[in-house]
Amino acid sequence: MRLTREEQGMLAGAEGPAVQKAMQMVAALADVYEAEGLVRVSSAQIAGVSYKNLGDAGLQFLQDWAAQGARVRVPALMNPAGMDLERWREMGISPQFARQQQHVVEALTSMGVSLTCTCTPYLVGTVPRAGQHLAWSESSAVSYANSVLGARSNREGGPSALAAAITGRTAAYGLHLSENRAATHVVEVQCPVRSEADYGALGYWVGQQVGDGVPYFRFQNQSLKPSQEHLMALGAAMAASGAVALYHIEGVTPEATSLPATERLQAVRAKTTPTINVHDLAEGHLALNSPLDEIDFVSLGCPHSTLADVERVAAMLDGKRVRAALWVTTSRHVRSLAEQRGWVATIEASGAKVFADTCLVVAPMEEMGFTAMATNSAKAAFYSPSHSGLKRRFGTMEQCVEAALTGRWRQS
Ligand code: F3S
Repeated sequence: MRLTREEQGMLAGAEGPAVQKAMQMVAALADVYEAEGLVRVSSAQIAGVSYKNLGDAGLQFLQDWAAQGARVRVPALMNPAGMDLERWREMGISPQFARQQQHVVEALTSMGVSLTCTCTPYLVGTVPRAGQHLAWSESSAVSYANSVLGARSNREGGPSALAAAITGRTAAYGLHLSENRAATHVVEVQCPVRSEADYGALGYWVGQQVGDGVPYFRFQNQSLKPSQEHLMALGAAMAASGAVALYHIEGVTPEATSLPATERLQAVRAKTTPTINVHDLAEGHLALNSPLDEIDFVSLGCPHSTLADVERVAAMLDGKRVRAALWVTTSRHVRSLAEQRGWVATIEASGAKVFADTCLVVAPMEEMGFTAMATNSAKAAFYSPSHSGLKRRFGTMEQCVEAALTGRWRQS
């Protein structure tokens, strides 16, 4: 592996023990993946922020690194924490959990990591350009950055993303290299795909088929291009049920539309690439639904809600009252914009909540007493039984809001 003189210096401890430790991690990854060298990253996104996932050992690790003087040298952004950092009491979080979570956040902010607490950094001002190298770690964010924005990131672990932020480098392997960004499967979608739930069901099913491959979608009979929310849902679902970190959609995503002809041909490789035909989405929908009628909790906002999502929910809840708990989770940036437009007040007048900084997958939901959830997120539906012990219904935002209003699930 080739290291520049500056990188060799970091490894030898010329910039202190914190940078040396970070460079040791980056170099070890490069060794494992037989990278020829390192690439400079323009930003890092740090997962592993929730105290639920980190525990005391993870907290200690971060505090020790911070005490050594670790400091990020590129923009670094926090993934969601285990609670709304301001309104955690309203979530039912215990003071003990809140205290430890605050310590995690303090350790990260002391290193210069921004308090974004979101898996949608591209909605809060960090929009990487095509071709830029990143060290992002939350799987849906990585998928969006690679696929929709054309940036280049592997799915880093939390510590390796932090090491990349501290050194400004990551190992040059995987999706940083053009040859690994070609499609491995062509997916011919023959049925209509309409809602975010449809895109989630499609993503769930395709992720299971392709694992960590790179699917290339061709949507037949689809007059409307997918919206930003649809792309977020598709990518998040494939990253959860498989390990898809990059996908292409013909006529939509940058590397399926704007590459030079030879590279595009390589990206499709239609003649040699296995083809998956999707005739309906029933299997995906079915797999993400537990048979239950009574709903006591509704979750919207996985990945974190866009401003348009919050507006839709506000319109649906205007003047109504929820029977089941309903949480909309989003970034503090989007919540603040929605507050200015009066949408948070409208939603919360119904009894629902708009929480920032967190989501149901990384919050300690098992302590909240809910048993039966409705969600429009395939990723949340996929993880909830194992992560939180929740049975779940999965469907459109409209179905979910209706479930919150009636306390019951109605099939479409
Ligand atoms: Fe984001 Fe949490 Fe879902 S991190 S993608 S809202 S599981």
